Amino acid sequence: MSELFDKVIERKGTSSMKWDMLKERFGAEDLWPMWVADMDFQAPQAVLDALKEKIDHGVFGYQAHSPSVDEAVKSWLERRYHWKVDPSSFIYTPGVVPTLSHIIQAFTEKQDEIIIQTPVYYPFYDVIKKNDRVLVKNPLHFNGEKYEMDLNQLESVITEKTKMLILCHPHNPGGRVWSRAELEALAAVCKKHNLFVISDEIHADLLYDGYSHVPFASVDKEMAERTFTCLAPSKTFNLAGIQTSYVVVENLELRRKLKNFLAGTFMNSLNSFAEIATEAAYRHGEAWLEELMDYVQKNYQMVVEFIEAKMPKIKPIQPEGTYLLWLDCSELGLTDAERKKWLIEEAQVALNHGPMFGEEGSNFERMNLACPRSILQEGLNRMRAAYEKRF
Ligand SMILES: Cc1ncc(COP(=O)(O)O)c(C=O)c1O
Repeated sequence: MSELFDKVIERKGTSSMKWDMLKERFGAEDLWPMWVADMDFQAPQAVLDALKEKIDHGVFGYQAHSPSVDEAVKSWLERRYHWKVDPSSFIYTPGVVPTLSHIIQAFTEKQDEIIIQTPVYYPFYDVIKKNDRVLVKNPLHFNGEKYEMDLNQLESVITEKTKMLILCHPHNPGGRVWSRAELEALAAVCKKHNLFVISDEIHADLLYDGYSHVPFASVDKEMAERTFTCLAPSKTFNLAGIQTSYVVVENLELRRKLKNFLAGTFMNSLNSFAEIATEAAYRHGEAWLEELMDYVQKNYQMVVEFIEAKMPKIKPIQPEGTYLLWLDCSELGLTDAERKKWLIEEAQVALNHGPMFGEEGSNFERMNLACPRSILQEGLNRMRAAYEKRF
């Protein structure tokens, strides 16, 4: 199937954020896009067929939620993560980030403290700050190879105003797939301090060989009662523009409260395309996903070999999950601002700049590996040419 992923599909001029918003986001038009976390691949054929069927039907009236979507989700969670949850605990929402914001509004008060573990996906900052909650950091510890949670430090930043922790699992950026032991240790601290946990597991399906995803809520029965697990087929199957996600809330009381809250903001349903794409992806997308991750891992190998040979001062951090590669650029000896300028003006590539993920992302850049190899190669060639001139 690698021909499928090798195929270059023109995205410029299709209102693609990655390809068509370079001027707005980076200040220049002619950059090679290696940023934002979506893929340059078509969704699985079964998803395209299901959507086409709907288009051909041509009637786009109000959508009823179908129990067969619940069945498809339930079966996916069991098959992929050995997690048995009753479909009554699913709440469907149009996107993970809006869901994070709504959970924060429903379960915390203004000025309550919410912890994030940095460097982390930048909207985590916004959903806390824009809701007038107090952002508290528990920075991850980078041991030179990978990130680890610092639970002693976590205990030291918790106060009686701390109500919630947002976990990113797998972690973006850096690609850690937190192990059962790490999750159990985290659960113990959250339990002791009575914290709610939002576990953002949107990258859960994007795993490198040898890693498996353990849902945070599955490691500890008591914490499962205080956890909101945010999931979606959107990262896995490249459906971000369709806006589909769901949150698993096992505790009845919390679920009722969240459902009521979402009913009040009218954020509690999926549109027709989201329903259809979610079901088709989860029922028929598994083989495609295996091929995808095989392709992404080969892209990773290719990038690592190229960088080692041609740009040895850049150090890729081996991911365990996600299709995003975190590059340690400290040996370049540039400040963040200088590196950003060098990448945009000299290499003419668009990467996600490390400090976007917090000051702990200083010296890093994030590269998207989910594209045809030829696209990745063009970006690497541009970087190499600029590297050879400068270093
Ligand atoms: C950790 C994490 N959560 C959420 C999202 C986006 O979710 P959505 O598009 O459903 O709002 C991303 C996208 O990159 C992400 O990395």
